[in-house]
Amino acid sequence: MNHSVDDVLKEFSSEKSNASSVSDFDSLKTKYLGKKGIVTGLLKQLGSLSPDEKKVFGAKINELKNTITAEIDAELGRLAQIEQEKQFKSDRPDHTLPGISSSVGTTHPVLRIVREISEIFVSMGFFVADGPEVEQEYYNFEALNVPLHHPARDMQDSFYLESGHVLRTQTSPVQIRTMEKISPPFKMIAPGKVFRRDSDITHSPVFHQIEGLVVGENVSMCDLKGTLIYFAERMFGKRPYRFRPSYFPFTEPSAEMDIQCIFCSGSGCKVCKGSGWIEILGCGMVNPKVFEAVNYDHEKYSGFAFGMGIERQAILRYGISDIRLLFGSDVRFLKQF
Ligand code: DAH
Repeated sequence: MNHSVDDVLKEFSSEKSNASSVSDFDSLKTKYLGKKGIVTGLLKQLGSLSPDEKKVFGAKINELKNTITAEIDAELGRLAQIEQEKQFKSDRPDHTLPGISSSVGTTHPVLRIVREISEIFVSMGFFVADGPEVEQEYYNFEALNVPLHHPARDMQDSFYLESGHVLRTQTSPVQIRTMEKISPPFKMIAPGKVFRRDSDITHSPVFHQIEGLVVGENVSMCDLKGTLIYFAERMFGKRPYRFRPSYFPFTEPSAEMDIQCIFCSGSGCKVCKGSGWIEILGCGMVNPKVFEAVNYDHEKYSGFAFGMGIERQAILRYGISDIRLLFGSDVRFLKQF
């Protein structure tokens, strides 16, 4: 018995030195420690021994079992670690692989134009003001000298809320709100959304405007023209322009500014309806009645104001054929900007 315990250990040692893989060591485990294994076989032989012999050999076989178990487990542990290191190395990211790019959004053409126009006016010393889209009738109409019977005040043309408020139909109310807050001299612009009950190829119920207001002593029509010509040249390049008499309740005199058609250079086309001119904004000298509404001394102060539709500027600037494209959220269209 003594002999066979030593032999088993020797045999195991020699077999172990030939084993190199996890499966080799798994086989050894089965061969020596499994249910039908060699060590188990030795334990079974104990039954035929005397109690004293049992004690001695029982201990020896147990020691053999522990040694073999420990040695196999140590090898399996070592192999597992090597495997893990290998895996870790192969899992490491390969920085030389080409990247997967995600698509990044771009600025909407309307916002681009708002920023571009704002920048031009800010460079001339204007500040940017803001006002509410849900507006009181007083600011949207009354204070701007828009009389009660004016068609813009009709339910057919404007969105009224149950509260009696109106969705502002123009950015002009920001003029009043600004003048109520500060004293002249100042130059301000106010970009924002406006709302009208209009919807077809060239009209959208929501669109954007930029309002402008300059108030001070001795502000004249020359200042108006100089400012707006400078703006138009920076926006559309040097080209012929003209001011046509017009009417707005809040300015007197009032005008509309045209530039030579960008599409046909004045020879007449579909866009300019054959006239060779394209209207870009409305403007005028502030009506003294508007100054009265905000308690400005109209003997002392004068001013000019202007307002323009942003979508119109975007259409002219980028040659867009249908205003609805600007509100359609079609990525194929928007991606071009
Ligand atoms: N509020 C006018 C509109 O919506 C645009 C406008 C014209 C604004 C002349 C002005 C102005 O400040 O002086 O059609």
